[in-house]
Amino acid sequence: MPNAPLWPALDAIAYGGDYNPEQWPRETWREDVRLMREAGVNLVSVGIFSWALIETDEGVFDFTWLDEILDLLHANGIAVDLGTPTASPPAWFFARHPEARVTTADGTRLGFGSRGMASPSSAAYREAIVRIAAALARRYAEHPAVVLWHVHNEYGVPVADDHSDESAAAFRGWLRARYGSLDALNAAWGTAFWGQHYGAWEHVSTPAAAPSTINPAHKLDFQRFTDHQLRACFVAERDAIRARAAQPITTNFMANQHWGTDLWAWAEEVDVVSDDHYLWAADDAPEIGLAIAADLTRSVAGGRPWILMEHSTSAVNWQPRNLAKRPGEMARNSLAHVARGADAVLFFQWRASRRGAEKFHSAMLPHAGTDSRVWREVTALGRDLGALDEVRGSRVTADVAVLWDFESFWAQDLEWRPTEDLSHRERIRAYYERLWRDGVTVDFALPGHDLSRYRLVVAPAQYLLRADDAANLTRYVAGGGTLVVSYFSGIVGENDDVHPGGYLSPLREALGVDVEEWLPLAEGARTAIAWDDGSETPSDHWQEQLRLAGAEVVARNASGPGEGLPAVTRHAHGDGAGWYVSTRLDTAGLAALMRRVYDDAGITPARHDEGLEVVRRTDGDRSYAFAINHSARDVALETPGTDLLTGHDGDRHPIPAGGVAVVRETP
Ligand code: GLA
Repeated sequence: MPNAPLWPALDAIAYGGDYNPEQWPRETWREDVRLMREAGVNLVSVGIFSWALIETDEGVFDFTWLDEILDLLHANGIAVDLGTPTASPPAWFFARHPEARVTTADGTRLGFGSRGMASPSSAAYREAIVRIAAALARRYAEHPAVVLWHVHNEYGVPVADDHSDESAAAFRGWLRARYGSLDALNAAWGTAFWGQHYGAWEHVSTPAAAPSTINPAHKLDFQRFTDHQLRACFVAERDAIRARAAQPITTNFMANQHWGTDLWAWAEEVDVVSDDHYLWAADDAPEIGLAIAADLTRSVAGGRPWILMEHSTSAVNWQPRNLAKRPGEMARNSLAHVARGADAVLFFQWRASRRGAEKFHSAMLPHAGTDSRVWREVTALGRDLGALDEVRGSRVTADVAVLWDFESFWAQDLEWRPTEDLSHRERIRAYYERLWRDGVTVDFALPGHDLSRYRLVVAPAQYLLRADDAANLTRYVAGGGTLVVSYFSGIVGENDDVHPGGYLSPLREALGVDVEEWLPLAEGARTAIAWDDGSETPSDHWQEQLRLAGAEVVARNASGPGEGLPAVTRHAHGDGAGWYVSTRLDTAGLAALMRRVYDDAGITPARHDEGLEVVRRTDGDRSYAFAINHSARDVALETPGTDLLTGHDGDRHPIPAGGVAVVRETP
């Protein structure tokens, strides 16, 4: 990944948000910049949805308003993250190029009047995005306000899959490059099944609506192809900018919110990683979903600092129930992202829109104006971030990795799985939540990564596992690592093809066990497992008939179809240990499991007050402890140092209910 400096023109943590001046008259712009300064805003993202107002017809550009607002922002000391507006092509584009509209699986061509890109395979769209990206880069490469390029917006939503003729042709081209021959494609897709053998390339198409379940390998490849096409669109724009401008280039990811793009691959293509994150209001601990997103973003960024490109000051407008953030919650969210590696805190959006589909979405400057709780908290957060300058560039380190593999998730989400109760998201969250509550900081990783620096690797849902990745995990254990694998892992290879040795067979050596037969449970069935110390904890959804190949039994199913059979096993392999969990453990079961696993891995869980999240960022001798109090009680962090937010100096830092401390720890 390139190592471009993050924000060459900024010497502070970036603070601001999406700014859409085109929705407002000139007099409002002047009020905007005055209030931005009041709030401590130093970076805004401009132009993300402005295509129709910049290129008014094909090849006809009008930069007047953009020139004016960039100059005004610069004159007020506010830097710009300049968007390329390609997530929302203008009406003229679709009128001229109707074939570029996205076609859904059932053949519907999507219309205009919303937002969403054209087909990522459309030649007309590819040409148009390069034209506008190049025009913007040419015009603003030297503009002193522009410190960052924001290509597109959230690739993959609201549409990505396209079943147009152009897409089908591009898919065939992609398959030819991947497989070389039709014979190889037929073999990889297993087309001998259900008589799907292809004798001519032109018979291969996208997996559009069909009478029954479509070949899973075909669908998995289409997912890979779509991700590839989206990335090619990004690369085309990026290169058009790079040829003309020197500022770093990003595009905003949606870690832990959208699974359609392989962020490991995307992170290789950007100069700096950025992420959008919105709390899921129905989550009873949304701060844990936030932590997953932030840790995943940092992990795909290779540990480098990253940009929180969007989050919300209060409610969003697109969930079934859009809960307002409670006092202090916005600051906790923002500082939790910084704690996990963000060097920028930005929002959607600066000023609440009066019109359009997002007028009920919160903003830094709400409809209620400056005499409001949100505005007061926005200005307070600007001050807090101003006190954290020295934290920039420091890193988060973790002893534990949780495997997060998009291809495996895509494969697991295909149709006709053994039970609809299987959910990679649910299991990852459950294992991560246990680690979060134990104060253990986590990175995410791919099974093929070098894992040797981690004491513990957890695989909550590694359904698709290539043989070479399984060998990597086995070497990790042999080398002294502790590996925990949860059920429905190690089932298929690259093309959703069951491993020749059966379920879990690629990990048999590391785990000392494989799976003879699955025993999914009926809806609502409750079971339990009995641990080796005589205790019992509840379980549900899933059991298995295991075949032991050297592993010791740590827990057995106490009831259910697998009654009496091993449920949790441990296997000493080389210098390490492989644990296997064949049922869905509840929180008590996960606590019982992880107590034993921590012992094995030499991990000491942190003993903080309940509800206190503590994460460290370090840089050489410097160490910053971020302590975020999610509870309704006053608590304290015991560590010698100075709280950068309050100036409090001492060994014990009181943190009021809902408050945050950032302690520069005394070495
Ligand atoms: C996304 C988009 C923004 C806006 C917000 C609203 O993150 O990038 O343009 O629609 O959602 O939450």
